[in-house]
Amino acid sequence: GLPEQVTIYEVGPRDGLQNEPSVVPVEVKAEFIDRLADAGHKVIEATSFVHPKWVPQLADADELLTRLHRRPDVRYPVLVPNPRGLDRALAQGVDEIAIFASATEAFAAKNLNRTLESQFVMFEPVVARALDSGVKVRAYVSMCFGDPWEGPTPIAQVVAIGERLLGLGCHELSLGDTIGVGTPGHVTALIRAFRTPERLAVHFHDTYGQALGNTLAALAAGVTTVDASTGGIGGCPYAESATGNLATEDLVWMLRGLGIETGLDLGKLVSTSVWLAELLGRPSPSRVVQALSKG
Ligand code: HMG
Ligand code: MG
Repeated sequence: GLPEQVTIYEVGPRDGLQNEPSVVPVEVKAEFIDRLADAGHKVIEATSFVHPKWVPQLADADELLTRLHRRPDVRYPVLVPNPRGLDRALAQGVDEIAIFASATEAFAAKNLNRTLESQFVMFEPVVARALDSGVKVRAYVSMCFGDPWEGPTPIAQVVAIGERLLGLGCHELSLGDTIGVGTPGHVTALIRAFRTPERLAVHFHDTYGQALGNTLAALAAGVTTVDASTGGIGGCPYAESATGNLATEDLVWMLRGLGIETGLDLGKLVSTSVWLAELLGRPSPSRVVQALSKG
């Protein structure tokens, strides 16, 4: 059966804005995050403490955190790849981080300048020190279904990397379909191959229009945390074929129809997406935003 409640892990300010051709001013980012909290989001991935040359769009991470109006009932995790990123995050009082591993050799090289093996050399001390400092750690694993250079990713390879990340002490593992090539049968098979589906989250990019179908398959397989980006913005600068994430509005529409509680105000999400689309200079790709914002 399907869960009664689903946690939506909002990635718009991070995954969405990391891939925008134009750099969004820091005060607009802060307002975006405030609006997401106003709409009822309880987990908002705010930004990344990565190398500013690798992702110039998020080079203002330190300043953004000083401008956040943090609410006690909202979590604001940030991406951290390495010790330098953790130093920066801790200096801003962050209490939850996300590391991001690759399931494939090619993407580990492109996204992290590491091998499948040496990415763990980078992550292990980060997770250990974060946990010691009372900081919770989520782990992502990217290219879980396929990779532009290596083709389909073997399920056993994803499970091996994913269980190793959980074994470091990460509380949650988000399975990333970075380029959106997964389909529902593949999703079911991958989730069933893990020993602990309750610790999994799913992270679908909607390149091939499969994100909602994949999400339904994941929920039926026992997953209760779903990543999404308000307005469906997003992509990965180190995987050209990646497009936006599953739109939060599309997800909320489906879950509402299923009678699953999210606590989100769809009207406020849509008006936030319309506001952001105007600033970004292009319409939201979300079908629900398009349908609900027609005059
Ligand atoms: P590297 O070049 O191997 O770095 O990059 P390094 O460790 O050799 O350090 C080189 C220099 O960079 C040093 O400076 C460091 O201090 C500095 P120097 O001593 O030469 O003057 N440096 C930093 N400065 C600021 N902040 C830092 C930092 N780290 C090093 N954190 C590295 C390795 C991991 C840093 C680099 O590859 C990187 O930043 N990668 C990030 C790429 C990225 O952000 N990709 C997008 C996010 S992943 C994604 O979108 C997928 C996801 O959504 C899930 C899905 O869809 O599947 C999560
Ligand atoms: Mg992503």
